[in-house]
Amino acid sequence: MKVAVLKETAPGERRVAVVPAGVPALAKEGLTVAVESGAGTAAGFSDDDYRSAGATIATRDEALAADVVLAVRTCGAAGDCWPADRDHLRPGTVLVGLCDPLSSTDACREAADRGATVFALELVPRITRAQSMDVLSSQANIAGYRAVIVAAAALPRILPMMTTAAGTLTPAKVLVLGAGVAGLQAIATAKRLGAQVSGYDVRPAVKEQVQSLGAKFVELPLETVGSEAAGGYAKAMGEEFYAKQRELLGKVVADSDIVICTALIPGQNAPVLVTADMVRRMRPGSVIVDLAAERGGNCEGSKPDETVVVDGVTILGPTNLPADVPFHTSQLYSKNIVTFLTHLVKAGLPDMSPDDEICRDTLVARGGELLHPKVRERAGLPPLAPVTPAQP
Ligand code: NAI
Repeated sequence: MKVAVLKETAPGERRVAVVPAGVPALAKEGLTVAVESGAGTAAGFSDDDYRSAGATIATRDEALAADVVLAVRTCGAAGDCWPADRDHLRPGTVLVGLCDPLSSTDACREAADRGATVFALELVPRITRAQSMDVLSSQANIAGYRAVIVAAAALPRILPMMTTAAGTLTPAKVLVLGAGVAGLQAIATAKRLGAQVSGYDVRPAVKEQVQSLGAKFVELPLETVGSEAAGGYAKAMGEEFYAKQRELLGKVVADSDIVICTALIPGQNAPVLVTADMVRRMRPGSVIVDLAAERGGNCEGSKPDETVVVDGVTILGPTNLPADVPFHTSQLYSKNIVTFLTHLVKAGLPDMSPDDEICRDTLVARGGELLHPKVRERAGLPPLAPVTPAQP
């Protein structure tokens, strides 16, 4: 089987799906690896690095003609760049990458119509066995780190306490909303930089994790029973809950120099945690980084990839922080996608058994059909008849 690594074409995307260190691992599975010329340049990996690792260098057309095509962003996640690749897909091509399957069902359907087999890495289940394939976590972790760096750079004050001959500077107060993967890393990073850090999450189970990083856990008198769904993700709560939450959070937000917003319910618009009124109550010079800007935002007024200033408060809505540090995010993504592909090959790619949870949960399209139940639902298609698992 021939595997190809595409050069990313989405604006601002500097990551590459496989770094040179990932090539030998694929070769070990009997796969031949081709890399589109220049695919790793923006992340710091040259064509020669890939050649030395055992890959051949290919044109885009050659790469798209491979049996398996690996990308960071494909289908809907590639945005306006998708149609150009879509028109080159051949029936049976296996496409693996971030696909935005739950929001961009049209693009997934187009890939299905071309006969491609599509695996969306956003759908890797959050189970122990699949941890090393979980690109959302590996990338969100770095996004959390980067969000603090970006906020610190925009803040007109320093983060640590400093005692100097010219006087003592008080530490900045950082509040992190949502203590999942990105949030916990944001908390850890702000602590490392010396800030006074608080974390808040709707799932009470994360209190200990926040405290273990040396941060204060913000406890609100809210009924949080049922806030956690299967897989450790948060569940959507009613509007009454969110209204009460905003009311209670107001004072904590107003007292913060930096607010990092990372609250997410998978597959849904982001819950609004910081209202325009709460922003106005913050001190001028304060900074909000809204990691959820692309999904509607946790902060009212945040705009994807724009800087908005409201009464002296800077609101940043970066949508692709992992691309700011492509050397390391590509390294992690590469490990994830190589492990994932190795798993698919071991499971019998292209005819994997339907009882393999990782294959089943990530398989969006095959044989001209959208297969994933949630993607079908979002696309307005009726459910397919259940497939009987193979007998041992
Ligand atoms: P996660 O699922 O690990 O964490 C989200 C956390 O938000 C969970 O702990 C959940 O309990 C919490 N949450 C949900 N509703 C809440 C509410 N009403 N109040 C308080 N907490 C609430 O997700 P992860 O991987 O940490 O991603 C976080 C966000 O960052 C997502 O919106 C994701 O799309 C975004 N992201 C953005 C990037 C960027 O460059 N802008 C890069 C990577 C991720």
